[in-house]
Amino acid sequence: MKKQIIGNWKLNGSSEVLKSYASSLLKQVEPSDEAEIGVAVPFPYIGLAAQCLFDKTIVKVGAQNCCAQESGAFTGEVSTDMIRDVAGAFVIVGHSERRSLYGETSMTVSEKASSVIASGMVPIICVGESEEEREQGIHLDVIKAQLKESVPADVDQEKMMIAYEPVWAIGTGKVASLDDIKEMHNFIKEDLGFKGCALLYGGSVKPDNAKDILSVPSVTGVLVGGASLKADDFAAIYNAV
Ligand code: PGA
Repeated sequence: MKKQIIGNWKLNGSSEVLKSYASSLLKQVEPSDEAEIGVAVPFPYIGLAAQCLFDKTIVKVGAQNCCAQESGAFTGEVSTDMIRDVAGAFVIVGHSERRSLYGETSMTVSEKASSVIASGMVPIICVGESEEEREQGIHLDVIKAQLKESVPADVDQEKMMIAYEPVWAIGTGKVASLDDIKEMHNFIKEDLGFKGCALLYGGSVKPDNAKDILSVPSVTGVLVGGASLKADDFAAIYNAV
C-alpha cells in the first residue's frame, strides 16, 4: 500500500496563496511508487486547486467536510457529488475540530463517509482521544467506540482510510510517541479488524519527525495540518517516504 501524505489546510488560504503554493509544490514532488500526496483545501478552492495541482501531477485534491444529503433544502451545505464534480478525490470526515466545535457525532460521520463512497471518493475517517481520556487509560476504548459508530456497516475497507489523530497532538507540537502510535494502530488493525484500509497518523507531523513516523510499519500515511500550509515543508514530508 502506498503511503498517503495528506494535507489539511483547515480555514486557511486564498486564490493567490494557492497558486504560488501549487507552483512551489509541483517543483518539489515527483510521482513515486512508494507514496501518494493530496491536499484538502476549503470548499471554494477545490476547483482551483484541482486545476493547479490535480490535472498536471500526482497531487490529489480533497475536502475537509461534506454534507451527507445529496441535494435539497440544506442551506449552506456542500454535497459529495458537488465535491466530486469539481475533481475532489477524497473527503476528511469526523476531524476532531468538527466533532468538538460543530457537534458532529460519530453517527453523522458514518453517514458522511457513506455518501463520500457513494460519490466515488475516499473518506478519511478521523478518530482520536482527548488528553484526559489518555491519562485515564481509556484511549483504546474511546477509539473502539468512535470507530464502531463512525465507520459505515459493511464498508469495503479498501475504499476508506482511517486517521488516528490524538486530540492532544493536533496543533500542539506534542507528537505522539512511536510506541503510542504502534499501540493504537495495532489495536485498530488486529483487535478491531481494520486490516484492509490505509491507517494514517495525524498530530504535529513535521518534516523533522515524518521519517520516523512513516517508518512505523502500521503507518500507511500521515494527515498533516500546520506543516501542509508551507509547500516546502509538505514536500519534505512527502519526500521523507
Ligand atoms: P497539525 O494538525 O498537523 O497541525 O497538528 C493535524 C490535523 O488537524 O489533521
